[in-house]
Amino acid sequence: MDKITMINEINRLKKEKNAVILAHYYQDGDIQDVADYTGDSLYLSQIASETDKDVIVFAGVHFMAETAKILSPMKKVLLPVKEAGCPMADMVTYAKLKKYKRENPERVIVCYVNSTAKVKALSDVCVTSSNAEKVIKHYQDKPLMYVPDKNLGTYLKDKYDLDMEVWPGFCCIHNNLNLKIVNEMKSLHKNASFIVHPEAPLDVVKAADFAGSTKGLLNHVINSDLNEFIVGTEEGILHQMKKACPNKIFHILTPDLRCYDMKLTTLEDVYLALKEDQFEVNVEEDIRTKAFIALDTMMKLS
Ligand code: 13P
Ligand code: SF4
Repeated sequence: MDKITMINEINRLKKEKNAVILAHYYQDGDIQDVADYTGDSLYLSQIASETDKDVIVFAGVHFMAETAKILSPMKKVLLPVKEAGCPMADMVTYAKLKKYKRENPERVIVCYVNSTAKVKALSDVCVTSSNAEKVIKHYQDKPLMYVPDKNLGTYLKDKYDLDMEVWPGFCCIHNNLNLKIVNEMKSLHKNASFIVHPEAPLDVVKAADFAGSTKGLLNHVINSDLNEFIVGTEEGILHQMKKACPNKIFHILTPDLRCYDMKLTTLEDVYLALKEDQFEVNVEEDIRTKAFIALDTMMKLS
């Protein structure tokens, strides 16, 4: 099937099944363009919780589809590629966090949304990269444990001087960024402003002119008077940046900024997801209700 026919079929099936397509900014441009909503993990969770459609096709990774199911249990949630996961989410397990909680009952568990439903169920509150600073301010005077991203956790701990332990997880692509790469790019593009996602190591984040979630980075380039940027996050975001600011110049910090799991999904997978109702994501009800509390607490504080 050619691309135009496939896009037409996706739009036809979407109406027939009363479905909505959500796509994260790290998906391929073609998928972002066919989606009803494109955004960061917080925005897409909000859309998932509010939609009146019967089916949510989540072009992203597993924890995102799972979050949609936790927030919208009556909807059918489909993840087009079953294997699309987030390695960082798997770096904290239910068993290990349970043991930690037993040994450290005084610590409030703050959980990055890049985590499994079972880990969210053990947590007091979730955060995403776009609301982490706002949410954490409500817990500033408490002993905390942040799971699983050591980089975003260290960034928060450093900025707000928190009594916070940090789980040793990381994002495989952002964690590889370093000052050498940044300095090389800065010397190649002397007029460019450097912007980065806070999943990068703290020294890289501190070297940036601006740090923020994918949506935060996009808003920043749209609102900035500057017109040249070195972008330190997954390259999919450049699709929206170039669309929103066709006259600005964007350089990806390194070509390695491609999330393997995000890029597993193709337009054909989105089409097949709608056609065959695959692959449905479910969450056990007792886990879902506990995980819902952590997500709902986040939504109320953000
Ligand atoms: P955002 O919350 O900025 O969308 O980030 C999600 C993610 O997976 C970043 O690596
Ligand atoms: Fe996970 Fe990193 Fe991919 Fe985001 S970019 S989904 S944190 S591996």
